[in-house]
Amino acid sequence: MDRTAAVLTMSDLGYQGKREDTSGPALCAMLEQAGYQVVHREILPDDFEAITAALRHCADELGLWLVVTTGGTGFSPRDVTPEATEAVLERRTPGIPEAMRAESMRITPRGMLSREAAGIRGQTLIVNCPGSEKAARECLGAVLPALGHGLEILRGISKNCGQSGGEHHG
Ligand code: MTE
Repeated sequence: MDRTAAVLTMSDLGYQGKREDTSGPALCAMLEQAGYQVVHREILPDDFEAITAALRHCADELGLWLVVTTGGTGFSPRDVTPEATEAVLERRTPGIPEAMRAESMRITPRGMLSREAAGIRGQTLIVNCPGSEKAARECLGAVLPALGHGLEILRGISKNCGQSGGEHHG
């Protein structure tokens, strides 16, 4: 079964065509390399309503396995991606942003400045990454190897580790 994914870029300047989006294409390439089929790409303004609508569309209408966002996780008053993400989540997955920030902090103390969130809506996992291409690559790279297993449990394809004899690897 195809693991479908979307990559959403949050950037006022990108949305206005005033800045080239290099993070979105970089994340797409990483996902495709890992076996995902990226079926949806969008550049959105840093706008709460636009972001929640796009996330709901990806989960509820498109039924995607995974939605990765880039941008809007910092301290600027316009950075509302984590708030918009949390507004549509049914269950939070705090381990994912914890892992991202732990890896980011090994690279730069500024890793703590990203407020990225992640969680589940229906059968869709939504994961925020920071906006710069470098930071987005580092953060997705820190969690991507573990996501497939979680997505298969979410979709009922794999059993929960606790129900399968205590396998805690892979
Ligand atoms: N995480 C990693 N791995 N590498 C980085 O270079 N930059 C940080 C942080 N997280 C960074 C990182 C910086 S400088 C900021 S301001 C925040 O991400 C917020 O990014 P955003 O507002 O572009 O989403």
